[in-house]
Amino acid sequence: MEKLRIMSVFGTRPEAIKMCPLVQELANREGIESLCCVTAQHRQMLDSVLEVFQVKPDWDLDIMTPRQTLSTITSKCLTGMDEAIDALKPDMILVHGDTSTTFAGALSAFYHQVSVGHVEAGLRTYDKYSPFPEEMNRKLVSAIADLYFCPTANNRANLEREGITKGLFVTGNTVIDALKTTVRPDYRFSTEELNQLPYGEKKIVLVTCHRRENYGEPMKNIMLALRQIAEENRDVELVYPVHLSPVVRESVDKYLRGAPRVHLIDPLAADEMHNLMARSAFVMTDSGGLQEEAPALGRPVLVLRHRPREPRPGHQVPHLDAAGRRRRLDGRSFLRRLPQHDLRRIGGLRGNIRQRVHTHDLAYRNTCDGGVVYFALCRLSRNHTPVRNGRSMYSAVRLYRSVGSQNDSEGRPWRQQKSVRRIRNTYCRYRRPCPDVR
Ligand code: UD1
Ligand code: UDP
Repeated sequence: MEKLRIMSVFGTRPEAIKMCPLVQELANREGIESLCCVTAQHRQMLDSVLEVFQVKPDWDLDIMTPRQTLSTITSKCLTGMDEAIDALKPDMILVHGDTSTTFAGALSAFYHQVSVGHVEAGLRTYDKYSPFPEEMNRKLVSAIADLYFCPTANNRANLEREGITKGLFVTGNTVIDALKTTVRPDYRFSTEELNQLPYGEKKIVLVTCHRRENYGEPMKNIMLALRQIAEENRDVELVYPVHLSPVVRESVDKYLRGAPRVHLIDPLAADEMHNLMARSAFVMTDSGGLQEEAPALGRPVLVLRHRPREPRPGHQVPHLDAAGRRRRLDGRSFLRRLPQHDLRRIGGLRGNIRQRVHTHDLAYRNTCDGGVVYFALCRLSRNHTPVRNGRSMYSAVRLYRSVGSQNDSEGRPWRQQKSVRRIRNTYCRYRRPCPDVR
């Protein structure tokens, strides 16, 4: 019998981390020929992931240039994909997520009348400029795809609301599969600086920041806020593997480099990153992937974005009003009612950090594994508005609801995880009724 030829197409680091487990799984299946085409929208950062997972692409478009624009990425991917599809003749193309590679890969498949499976389908913020251009890529790929592999039931519901009713599957998030292969308690970093960090003695705060919608003023504010955190907290060490984008590097060099207790390092290989995250006290990031991985590893996250990855407008979120009474507010109106927020509480950080947080949200995020999220959504600003001491509350304490299984990555029921209890207890210490812990 002829094998079904399934071609996975990806180009950036996060797509690769989430697609490599799938490429390997497909290769193990009888009846399937697993093909892999990379656009290399990222070069070094992609190659590093391919090396960790030992995946060898069948086709490489090699499109990356410094300071590439969205149009050049898309047009080069489209042209390159013509050749790849003609040569490899796939029966189905799998794309992942919401990058320019994803969009161009799906469009190209459509032009060649090859069916498209969308992995990580159904994420929405309903704001076409945030994340930019990813939200639009997601929508456009939804219009093209034939099969939709949704990480969560909520993602599936998003698609159903848009009139997509066929070919929907709730699969969980493949990043959890990746974590299972990379995180080990006895892991030794090949970046020696990471072996030397004082994990037990100080709070290691892992930072990443790269998103296009943060370019300019928001990124400057984030860098200045990071500098301030490092300067004012002797018990903290910030570890920031800096994205290779020249725009990001410029901002880091200008506003953050030279600050005490800040370790600016090159991007890490995926296994190093996952193990570092597992050992960190706290994560600050605008990365979509880290937002998913950190809770799965039981790590608190402060999200450096204006919008959550999945805010679910219209969804009723539990909320505490000023008097501590429980209210249920629509997601959007909740975002409009923005109490001041104290970063100290979030990371257990100490010191006089004054931040104005423009938005925050209760997090309703799912991984297929469960886990805890402790999630503030913010844009940090230098225009300080002093925090009203004692008034600020945890922006979010919420259990991730497990979709696929009720167990964490080590097979323990997530309700029993220490981190769940710890965060719940901490929350209660601040005299707020603990949100519904399911
Ligand atoms: C892209 C994705 C974004 C994803 C991010 C993951 C789009 C539009 N954006 O954004 O959704 O979150 O990847 O990191 O698809 N560079 C290198 N070497 C590398 C990688 C990048 O030098 O290995 C530099 C290049 O100068 C490149 C720049 O980074 O031009 C930006 O890369 P690009 O893919 O355009 O954007 P990202 O911000 O990485
Ligand atoms: N990552 C990595 N090395 C780094 C920074 C991130 O391996 O130095 C991994 C991270 O663990 C996650 C993925 O890259 O799996 C996220 O990529 P990124 O933040 O670039 O993109 P996003 O998730 O925002 O699309």
